[in-house]
Amino acid sequence: MNLMLKYQVAMNVLCNDIDTLINEYVNKYNYNPVNHTEHRIKTLKSAYDKLDRKGYELTDANLFEQVRDMVGYRIICNFLSEVPDVVKMIEGSKQLRIISRKDYITHPKETGYLSYHLIVEVPIYLSTGVEYIKAEIQIRTLAMNFWAALDHKIQYKFPDEAIPQEVSDELYDISMKVRDLDNRMVLLNDIMNKYKK
Ligand code: GTP
Ligand code: MG
Repeated sequence: MNLMLKYQVAMNVLCNDIDTLINEYVNKYNYNPVNHTEHRIKTLKSAYDKLDRKGYELTDANLFEQVRDMVGYRIICNFLSEVPDVVKMIEGSKQLRIISRKDYITHPKETGYLSYHLIVEVPIYLSTGVEYIKAEIQIRTLAMNFWAALDHKIQYKFPDEAIPQEVSDELYDISMKVRDLDNRMVLLNDIMNKYKK
């Protein structure tokens, strides 16, 4: 089966799995830690660009081994305090196998990027047998998503050159404000919970 088709199957499985995990969670705790989800399959062009940047030959084998985010899924929480709940929710999956993780919330990237990343293996059942496809799950708050989306737009304006220092400094500074906002929202949520009957 064509590799892109396998990614599509893996995406279907992943969407269904995460949907089920969220439904089970809501059913159990009577509350939803997820604001919304987003997903995309990386285009071949963008995958080849990435392989090229990393200095690999443009083969299916390299694509399969080196590009771990062909299948990309994002879970956006309302509150920072919900991110660990969502991570645990994914860890509890009987189907998805976590193969690595990066905590850019505890340790923000030098750009200021904040998110929790999991690389998982998604099993796909084909007539030829079961195969495992890697996928990247990004877990972040609404505020982190706001920053990342605008950062991405700004990065796009400098495709071939380094981003000017004053721009990257400002982005980093805004990211620290995003952290503050997230922390304040958690505190506000704690206060709100006191009023909940
Ligand atoms: P790539 O960065 O994807 O080549 O792989 P990597 O192994 O270095 O993974 P990393 O964890 O650095 O980034 C994975 C993904 O996180 C990226 O594809 C982006 O979606 C997101 N990301 C990482 N850094 C930034 C950043 O500075 N700004 C934004 N907007 N997104 C970022
Ligand atoms: Mg990177």
